[in-house]
Amino acid sequence: MDFKLSEEQLMIRDAARDFAKAELLPGVIERDNKQEFPTEQVKKMGELGFLGMMASPEYGGGGMDTLSYVLVMEELSKIDASCSVIVSVNNSLVCWGLDEYGSPEQKEKYLSKLTNGESIGAFCLSEPEAGSDATSQKTTAIDKGDHYVLNGTKNWITNGGSADYYLVIAQTDREKGHKGINAFIVEKGWEGFEIGPKEDKLGIRGSDTHSLIFNDVKVPKENRIGEDGFGFKFAMKTLAGGRIGIAAQALGIAAGAYELAKEYSKVRKAFGTEIMNHQAIAFKLADMHTKIEAARMLVYKAAIDKDNHDSYDLSGAMAKLYASEVAMETAVEAVQIHGGNGFVKEYHVERLMRDAKITQIYEGTSEIQKIVISRSVLRD
Ligand code: CAA
Ligand code: FAD
Repeated sequence: MDFKLSEEQLMIRDAARDFAKAELLPGVIERDNKQEFPTEQVKKMGELGFLGMMASPEYGGGGMDTLSYVLVMEELSKIDASCSVIVSVNNSLVCWGLDEYGSPEQKEKYLSKLTNGESIGAFCLSEPEAGSDATSQKTTAIDKGDHYVLNGTKNWITNGGSADYYLVIAQTDREKGHKGINAFIVEKGWEGFEIGPKEDKLGIRGSDTHSLIFNDVKVPKENRIGEDGFGFKFAMKTLAGGRIGIAAQALGIAAGAYELAKEYSKVRKAFGTEIMNHQAIAFKLADMHTKIEAARMLVYKAAIDKDNHDSYDLSGAMAKLYASEVAMETAVEAVQIHGGNGFVKEYHVERLMRDAKITQIYEGTSEIQKIVISRSVLRD
């Protein structure tokens, strides 16, 4: 495996690093406190091309590889995971899904607005009673000839209040199980489409998470993605790539927490010396560094698998499983290394610790990643 980054990849990584320091860091604590959506920052990320990185240039996308996207996710997440989840959903769930499986008309009408930040997208699979068990969803879309009628509730939807376009997965024929599921593009403001209250969350508080309620929403037939019955596969295939983005988010959170802890250990003194000179602290940093490097290998490997058109279901699931556990572990240790200062907002690590937790839950919990991994290795 060759992880040597190209000149172009290094430039993209540095641009994201500079942007995160200059534009995300200044208000990150306040946005977290107020649960404030980063409207201005998202606009700037759109201008920089961070919102449609892998999408076709024909529709305004950057036409870049997955590894470049991962590098951007890593850098943004070191500082602000609320911003990076917006980037992740828009890039790998919404733009990628539309680019790969949408019709030319759908791409022209929707994708070309989603790649540059003019519009934001959301991916709506989870429901109050169907999260991990994604095929047991209850939202229905009944075929009425030239349109479908959508009814039901989606839960926990990232960009739920801020999005303009929503990819909604729904049952069109319960008898057919997962083969009776379809995916639709729904526009904000359509009659009967209601956005529920914003969730008050532990972490990624700057991103807005809402439930969505559909009451007899008319969806034109041309807004169905792919062939009839393709919706569950659409969701699974899209999520397989999405998991690489969240793995990169976890890697960034871990690296951000580690860098803060390392710097702190060089200046904070206890018992007459900098705390880095206490072996207990130095060994924590050694463990953190080693695990982050291991996570980085898995994340980059999954991205490269995708870029090489190799199968990435397994490598993406392993990357997400491991990187998210490293993120949680590292962030907890970073708080410990900061002592009392780790417990207050000013030092950033408590936020990274709260943000780390979600990476073990969304886009498939750690337990679900183990199902994907074990099924894959046992089948092989
Ligand atoms: N690619 C293509 N097809 C796939 C697939 C994949 N990666 N994974 C499964 N399928 C297909 C299967 O082949 C099967 O089709 P056939 O019968 O034709 O072979 C069909 O899908 C059903 O598969 P399973 O029998 O494996 O389904 P299951 O009910 O056992 O569930 C699961 C599998 C992996 C647990 C799945 O339900 C799952 O991924 N659950 C987690 C849901 C999830 O990740 N939600 C995230 C929501 S989005 C989000 O969270 C965004 C965010 O936070 C920012
Ligand atoms: P459950 O499925 O009820 O799981 C509860 C527990 O049981 C978990 O620990 C789980 O791992 C475990 N479990 C379940 N089944 C098994 C099993 N077979 N074997 C072993 N353990 C099992 N969804 C979207 O569709 N779009 C979004 O944009 C989105 N954004 C989100 C943002 C946030 C902040 C949050 C919190 C969630 C978001 N989600 C989104 C939903 C997220 O994907 C689900 O929360 C997640 O998939 C888990 O589903 P659940 O919450 O229903 O938990």
